[in-house]
Amino acid sequence: MATPSVLKALTREQIEEAFKKTKAETNIPGIELELVTEKYYDRVCEFAWNNYALKEPIATSLGVENTDEFKNIWMSSFKLNLSLIFIDKETRDIIAMRAIRIACKDDVLDLESIKSQSIRDMLAFDDYCDKYADFFGHYGVSEAFHFWGLAVNEKFGRRGYAVEICRAAINMIRHFGIDPVYIKGEASSNYSKKVHRCCHNN
Ligand SMILES: CC(C)(COP(=O)(O)OP(=O)(O)OC[C@H]1O[C@@H](n2cnc3c(N)ncnc32)[C@H](O)[C@@H]1OP(=O)(O)O)[C@@H](O)C(=O)NCCC(=O)NCCS
Repeated sequence: MATPSVLKALTREQIEEAFKKTKAETNIPGIELELVTEKYYDRVCEFAWNNYALKEPIATSLGVENTDEFKNIWMSSFKLNLSLIFIDKETRDIIAMRAIRIACKDDVLDLESIKSQSIRDMLAFDDYCDKYADFFGHYGVSEAFHFWGLAVNEKFGRRGYAVEICRAAINMIRHFGIDPVYIKGEASSNYSKKVHRCCHNN
């Protein structure tokens, strides 16, 4: 029998409580930390298109298209209300995004159901790397938080916001009080590898 998911059992109240503590600890001049909830879904999907899909190495090399399927993939994680964004306090624009989902060892990717060739290729590539890395087998766990989409509006690049939003995400996960807890993630650009190393040293 499959082990019940501890991560999927987190309630909206528990997430919001952990987020509140994280927000109180995050002090970056001019920036507000926000949890991605209903009021941000459309704007954060648009942000993901402009700042991730059009900039990230794998998505750009495969020519990922802005279709409903693309939006649905992002929405499947945003709807968990676990993802974080940085907002410019003055303009209220989104300037950074850390998408967070829950990954399980038993997840099955149904590539046949995906119509867009570029999205199918992107997910097939991710799946191949996942199998090769064997995260769940290596750590002997059945689930993990999955840090999967990281983007900073390039007008605000190289100010440390990617590192800061990842730190905030790790702190929020700490506040869930789940012990032990695992985080998996892919760093598909040389810079994001640096970002993850900086957070690791935190
Ligand atoms: C990758 C990305 C998130 C980095 O955001 P950022 O806020 O500029 O990153 P930070 O300022 O926190 O920098 C983190 C490290 O990367 C380095 N870095 C970031 N962008 C860089 C660039 N264009 N050239 C050289 N180094 C860069 C920084 O110098 C810093 O290293 P340091 O501490 O040794 O100086 C951003 O460039 C982006 O959104 N790219 C498009 C989407 C993408 O590729 N996402 C990652 C896929 S997982």
